[in-house]
Amino acid sequence: MPMRAQPFFLILLLTLLTPVSTLSVAQNLEKGKEINGTCAACHGEFGSGGKRGEYPRIGGQRVAHIAEQLRNFRSRKRLNIPMFPYTQERELSDEDIKDVSAYIASIVLPTTPPDFKDTDDALTRLEAMEKVMMIGKLDGDIPNGKALYQNECADCHGQTALGKGRYPMLFGQYTQYLRRQIELFIKGDRIHDDDESKGILAKISQKDIDDLLAYITRIQDIEVAKP
Ligand code: HEC
Ligand code: HEC
Repeated sequence: MPMRAQPFFLILLLTLLTPVSTLSVAQNLEKGKEINGTCAACHGEFGSGGKRGEYPRIGGQRVAHIAEQLRNFRSRKRLNIPMFPYTQERELSDEDIKDVSAYIASIVLPTTPPDFKDTDDALTRLEAMEKVMMIGKLDGDIPNGKALYQNECADCHGQTALGKGRYPMLFGQYTQYLRRQIELFIKGDRIHDDDESKGILAKISQKDIDDLLAYITRIQDIEVAKP
């Protein structure tokens, strides 16, 4: 008896679950896209940021990280003067934070130009290029940067720096922005993972920071190209 009942329950479950979950996700993203209209003034329509990292890339960032930072800006746990008016309670409710974070995280920004077909017209090419997030590759002692990153950072930020869970993606982020954040962590003006790993950052030399950043700009080539 239980053996025969199983497929029936599976089908029933699928029928019940599929349309509901698809619908609610679609609604949140729609609202999120609308809210993103105010963010676009600084971060760009696709969240690709700009002004050489004055505005960070947020498109494709980890959803939990986006939401956490918005809550931190709102409570002023992390000070962000340009964004403060946009994150006040009446502007951005908890529900809005969920919707806009989900939408922004769902944007996939390529970090290399696409392979165009001969048939692609100028507009198609322009639109595709607007989304490309190109980070200049930095020179430095790459083996030193790699050893530091893989030993001290990869556990949280991921082997290829795409982040995981609430730990932010570092690859594809403007180098100047990353450098500024590391300086803020060292000065104590922004808290790095509830202070747990400030130890490493505080001990690190300027040259090590340069090597780490140089490696991060190349990490996808080095780690993904491996068989
Ligand atoms: C007036 C310009 C401005 C507007 C509008 C703005 N931001 Fe920002 N945002 C910034 C700046 C500047 C920073 C970087 C602050 C720093 O360097 O610490 C930032 C940082 C962030 C970060 C942190 C990124 C990270 O990796 O830690 C997130 C997330 C973010 N913004 C999301 C949003 C969202 C969502 C909106 C719309 C509701 C928005 N921003 C609107 C200027 C803006
Ligand atoms: C124990 C986990 C952990 C380790 C190890 C760690 N980080 Fe982080 N890192 C975090 C968390 C969590 C955040 C988000 C902080 C916040 O909420 O503001 C973060 C944020 C960052 C940011 C800012 C990113 C952004 O988008 O704003 C940089 C840059 C960074 N880490 C660099 C490093 C480097 C370099 C190392 C290795 C030397 C490292 N981290 C090791 C957990 C970690």
